[in-house]
Amino acid sequence: MIYENISLKKFNTFGLNVRADRMVTFKIEENAIYFFRQHKSSGQRCLILGQGSNLLFTSDFHGIIIHPEMGGITLEGKKGDEVIVSAGAGEVWDKLVESTVNNGMGGLENLSLIPGLVGASPVQNIGAYGAEVRNTIEKVRAISIEDGSIREFTNQECNFGYRDSIFRGELKGKYLITRVYFKLSTKPKLCLEYGSLKEEISKLGSTSLGNVRKTVIRTRQSKLPDPVQIGNAGSFFKNPVVTDSVVNKLKEEFPKIPVFKDAAGGMKLAAGWLIEQCGWKGKRVGDAGVHERQALVLVNHGNATGQELFELSEQIRNSVLEKFGINLEREVEVVSAT
Ligand code: FAD
Ligand code: EPU
Repeated sequence: MIYENISLKKFNTFGLNVRADRMVTFKIEENAIYFFRQHKSSGQRCLILGQGSNLLFTSDFHGIIIHPEMGGITLEGKKGDEVIVSAGAGEVWDKLVESTVNNGMGGLENLSLIPGLVGASPVQNIGAYGAEVRNTIEKVRAISIEDGSIREFTNQECNFGYRDSIFRGELKGKYLITRVYFKLSTKPKLCLEYGSLKEEISKLGSTSLGNVRKTVIRTRQSKLPDPVQIGNAGSFFKNPVVTDSVVNKLKEEFPKIPVFKDAAGGMKLAAGWLIEQCGWKGKRVGDAGVHERQALVLVNHGNATGQELFELSEQIRNSVLEKFGINLEREVEVVSAT
């Protein structure tokens, strides 16, 4: 389907009322391949958009929005305890998690209730509660926007990192992901080390897959604002990964600073804590604000513009830099006029 001059209000979780010149949706790969081959010489700007839960539009978008609607959750194969499940890029992420958990397949349960579509999950290697999607991805199928060719990326070729992958790096905007293949297990090793997850699950009686999902959902609902109630895009910044010497220096001046080990063995600071210490938690500038329970989440109280939210984020970044000497890196992608 092709839509002209379309409102993106329902396609971004900040609820910003911006417009795009054009949106093209694809239910099957063949149509996308045909479109990209035709589109090759037009030179128009393209943006792939899922549910817009990790994007901030600072103006209307002049170009073509590509919105994947490829569906289907398929059991591809089974070998012993191992199962391969694939899902179309247009499936809602949490529907996939729910379906795998209900069918006794483990691997995605800690990633319950993360907003967005399956196609975006490898892009920033979504993660929560001690798990990252890279731990389960077998391969990613994608179409080149430049020439319509199909390429399958192995897990290694995706270059996954903390909130990072090749699709955010050197191949940013160059491939439309159409299907993701996950390696799951019918006898999963549960990952319960994050915060008080283990303790909370034990209150439910057993550490079943269903109870992990239930606990993660409850914890998320108690901490993170629901975009249906108040516009937001989850964590606005990444947690800074720093060296031991930076940690030691900061600890001298700020003995209470929380420090965590990251998956690669490095040290991570809690950006939410840094922002809270700068006095931003619960603050608002017009309708752009900082969430009252989670300082890492910027919120739209109603009629904030993307530019106002962006300006607030820059003020926050500057004050964290000034107080702690730490340069916060955005997790949310800013989409500007050019
Ligand atoms: P979009 O925001 O539409 O797009 C994100 C990026 O991926 C863009 O660069 C886009 O161009 C690209 N993209 C999207 N689809 C495709 C595709 N098919 N092919 C190629 N590129 C594509 N994230 C976490 O990691 N952990 C969390 O715990 C978490 N919690 C959140 C909580 C809330 C309340 C919210 C609002 C967001 C949260 N997020 C979290 C961020 C967000 O949910 C994820 O980044 C999600 O994967 C984005 O999915 P989307 O479909 O909305 O992608
Ligand atoms: N903290 C504060 N003040 C705050 C917020 C947090 O001091 O206002 C401190 C907490 O006390 C805690 C630490 O920061 O010691 C970590 O907080 P939390 O467990 O809430 O997680 P987070 O680091 O803020 C990260 C991810 C989330 C993910 C959760 C759970 C990033 C950038 N964010 O948040 O992902 O859901 O952990 O695993 O890594 C997202 O990416 O959009 C997202 C929501």
